Amino acid sequence: MRDDFDPLAPETFDSPHEDYRRLRKECPVAHSSAWGGFWAYMKHADVCAAASDSSTYITSKQNVIPKVAFTGRRPPLHLDPPEHTPYRRALAPLLTEKKVARLEPVIASLCDELLEKMIAKGGGDLCAEYSAHVPIVTFSHWMNLPADQIAELAETGRTYNIAVQSNDMETTKQSSLKLYDMARALLKARKEAPLDPALDATTALLEARYEGEPLPEDLIVGTIRQVLVVGIIAPTVTFGAVGVHLARDRALQTKLREQPDLIPEAIEEFLRLYTPYRGFARTATEDVCKYGRTIKAGEPIALVYASANRDEEVFEAPDEFRLGRENMKDSLAFGRGVHSCVGAPLARLQMKVALERLLAKTKGFSLAGEPVQTRFPEIGALKAPLAFE
Ligand code: HEM
Repeated sequence: MRDDFDPLAPETFDSPHEDYRRLRKECPVAHSSAWGGFWAYMKHADVCAAASDSSTYITSKQNVIPKVAFTGRRPPLHLDPPEHTPYRRALAPLLTEKKVARLEPVIASLCDELLEKMIAKGGGDLCAEYSAHVPIVTFSHWMNLPADQIAELAETGRTYNIAVQSNDMETTKQSSLKLYDMARALLKARKEAPLDPALDATTALLEARYEGEPLPEDLIVGTIRQVLVVGIIAPTVTFGAVGVHLARDRALQTKLREQPDLIPEAIEEFLRLYTPYRGFARTATEDVCKYGRTIKAGEPIALVYASANRDEEVFEAPDEFRLGRENMKDSLAFGRGVHSCVGAPLARLQMKVALERLLAKTKGFSLAGEPVQTRFPEIGALKAPLAFE
């Protein structure tokens, strides 16, 4: 089968979007032989339909391209309904906008602390020195970890985050196993001394039932690990991309600095423009025919959310940053259907606070070098070198 694109080709920060524009036009169901071969849905309509149809498109076989398999299953993403649902139901009430609001002061003070260090040396890498720390510390507080474990998780999580994105397999594996150990220790602690399930995810998972039975402990550990993985990399690379965008667009930087009330709306548009995922995957349960091509049952398909959100048939001038788009509800930044992002309120809060603090604490910033693009399954900035004025 011919290769329509090469996901391993070297990229710049902007180049994948040029290629995705070509694919949407010429080859909306694209094929690559990389990583054992996979299909890629490039258009909004196809990505949205597949994400919304969890019986034809399942996640339990392969949920990400390339497939990484150091460890066991991690709900809720690795399971299909109905097995998936009790894990999601346990997490969802703890991730509402109202519930996560308690974390805002913690996030703000962490951001200020990190920015102080960067300001003292005139700038730095917005990803490694800022956005990689924010999600992991936020997560530690959301999980109600004691102070000493927050420091340990912050260090291991940050190491894991950077190693995954840099394709450093050995460090990824070691830090992943350490994160599993930490998740197991947390489970043990909550079994001995449960917290309020309305405020603590591990206790809520321990109390959840499926067909009258408690959830298996290895899958509760897998869930904690899953939230940790999906919850730390996306905010890191998306916020890195926001930094690059603002460094290049000084007028927008000034506007948002002067009118911080526009920041929540700006975050939605940044999430559309810099949607961090291109490799979340499904497997077809039956043959699917599209645009004259046949995807056989059992073949993996990437839902390229990053391409769907720049589809010119849905978003006018899709490569432009525009505040107040009327059809923002069509953004697929947080997916669709049963697996849509359960952590979206926490993600939005982190992004909002991180941007508010960055703009409030700096007078202006510009690029201090070429940004570096991260790799499949994510898309966004791995490095965003900034110079502060
Ligand atoms: C910029 C930040 C984020 C973005 C853009 C994002 C995006 C997404 C997307 C697109 C999916 C759907 C995956 C699929 O269709 O296969 C998803 C699922 C998920 N996300 Fe997020 N996410 C972000 C942050 C977070 C955070 C902070 C958390 C942690 C609490 C989180 C937890 C999850 C979980 C648990 C799932 C799986 C849900 C399920 O299978 O039912 N995400 N996310």
